[in-house]
Amino acid sequence: MGSRIFSSPAFFKSIILVLFYTLFWTIPEVEAAKHSGITRNYKFDIKLQNITRLCQTKSIVTVNGKFPGPRIIAREGDRLLIKVVNHVRNNITLHWHGIRQLRSGWADGPAYITQCPIQTGQSYVYNYTITGQRGTLFWHAHISWLRATLYGPIVILPNKHVPYPFPQPFKEVPIIFGEWWKADTETVINQAMQTGSAPNVSDAYTINGLPGPLYNCSAKDTYRLKVKPGKTYLLRLINAALNDELFFSIANHTLTVVEADAVYIKPFKTQTVLLTPGQTTNVLLRTKSKTPNATFLIAARPYVSGPAAFDNSTTTGLLEYEKTAVTTTSTNKKLPVLKPVLPKLNDTSFSFKYNQKIRSLANSKFPANVPQTVNKNFFFTVGLGTTSCSQNQTCSGPNNTRLVASINNVSFVQPNIALLQAHFFKRSKGVFTTDFPTNPPFKFNYTGTPRNNTQVSNGTKVVVLPFNSAVELVLQDTSIIGAESHPLHLHGFNFFVVGMGFGNFDPKKDPTKYNLVDPAERNTVGVPSGGWVALRFRADNPGVWFMHCHLEVHTSWGLKMAWVVLDGKKPNQKLLPPPSDLPKC
Ligand code: C2O
Repeated sequence: MGSRIFSSPAFFKSIILVLFYTLFWTIPEVEAAKHSGITRNYKFDIKLQNITRLCQTKSIVTVNGKFPGPRIIAREGDRLLIKVVNHVRNNITLHWHGIRQLRSGWADGPAYITQCPIQTGQSYVYNYTITGQRGTLFWHAHISWLRATLYGPIVILPNKHVPYPFPQPFKEVPIIFGEWWKADTETVINQAMQTGSAPNVSDAYTINGLPGPLYNCSAKDTYRLKVKPGKTYLLRLINAALNDELFFSIANHTLTVVEADAVYIKPFKTQTVLLTPGQTTNVLLRTKSKTPNATFLIAARPYVSGPAAFDNSTTTGLLEYEKTAVTTTSTNKKLPVLKPVLPKLNDTSFSFKYNQKIRSLANSKFPANVPQTVNKNFFFTVGLGTTSCSQNQTCSGPNNTRLVASINNVSFVQPNIALLQAHFFKRSKGVFTTDFPTNPPFKFNYTGTPRNNTQVSNGTKVVVLPFNSAVELVLQDTSIIGAESHPLHLHGFNFFVVGMGFGNFDPKKDPTKYNLVDPAERNTVGVPSGGWVALRFRADNPGVWFMHCHLEVHTSWGLKMAWVVLDGKKPNQKLLPPPSDLPKC
């Protein structure tokens, strides 16, 4: 009976109808599906857990006792309700890094920017909907340095029945890089802030929480990726390290990069991936057609562009092909381990070229809505500096100063209550001022011999943007103390990376070379060491949005600021009121 249905003219008619609908109605269907997501509930218990790494056991702050933390899986359009209960002594906030948080800024998470922290014994439900994003992001603590151990993947799948714009992978695997510290990271940063010196560095890098065999006592703590021959794997790469950009490579395998910061890109092939802290990327790994007689090393180590001390070590894992019946009987001997060749530690030219390869798909299904004209221009210097030591104190920064960092020479001072509350309830007086400088306070050769005066000013200053402003922001690295690649992260938006270059930005010549067609769309970008990057975004999300260097040490030193985006006129262009369980300071 079944076969008769399948060969009947009515069946063909319905096939043609289905084809017609998929061809002509896909776009409205996707639109509708955006709002038809489901609600997913998660419970995150913040608690201590003993973990042993590098021959030492340490009590760390975790979610549900897991390290790395649990993964969040959702589809585009889904709503997430994540109940966070704080059972530890530290104040806690969690941030959903890269989630657009349309009108839901209360759920964004940076401490004292969008919320007061969740205190011991308290809880808070993060409530937000994922709109128009698909790919890999991650969540992490956003208070002090607690993200050292509090982090985990966010996997956003496309709508049901909507395929990837690349070959459907056989399997998907999150790979999250981190740093392991033997010391307590809260003590490390608190001491550094007291003395004004640079904090210590980590003891190891990790792949999914495991350092791998190049470190002491760590052979058993090695990440193994077991694969079958002739298949395509989607690796969801996340750099959750505190202070280090990382190169990543797999011996004898080429990777195809297909997504960056939860935006599909034009696929390109590479041996090595580079991720700043805060960046995520999806790559396809095509395995060899036949099981090879070798095991392949997976390795990650830092890209170092700055003057500071760094953790000069390499984390490794293994790519292992499943043994077939033939290979198990014939070769029971140990397979050779092939090693990847990574770029040299300070390979700034690799970094620059790699970042230029990242291009938006910019097609009708996935357009790149780059603002073609702008009505707000900003030029921000980003870099290090000093501030004077308080009287009767000795400081260990250069010439008895403290090391700090700034944007346009303002080192951001963290307020005592959340900026978003102060803004929403119109009580900004004494909390923040709206005079964040549009341009550096004085001009100098930003990337040349630095000025003698390296002193910065302090303040809790913001930029106010009318709803829907088309913003152009040029970030210029400075060579004060030392040039360095700064991974700038913007909350609440994706921006388009319309230009980048070395040296000082030239406002006459450089804009003529902007890519306004298919620039990378992302939430974190490395400002080239000794160079600049030009970004554009539309301020269509009302709220208070943090922007900071994702090197945690630079955030601690004040390389951060906030944008206040005002409500629009229409009801759906306004920030929603705060939830009733929003933590109090
Ligand atoms: Cu991933 Cu404000 O941070």
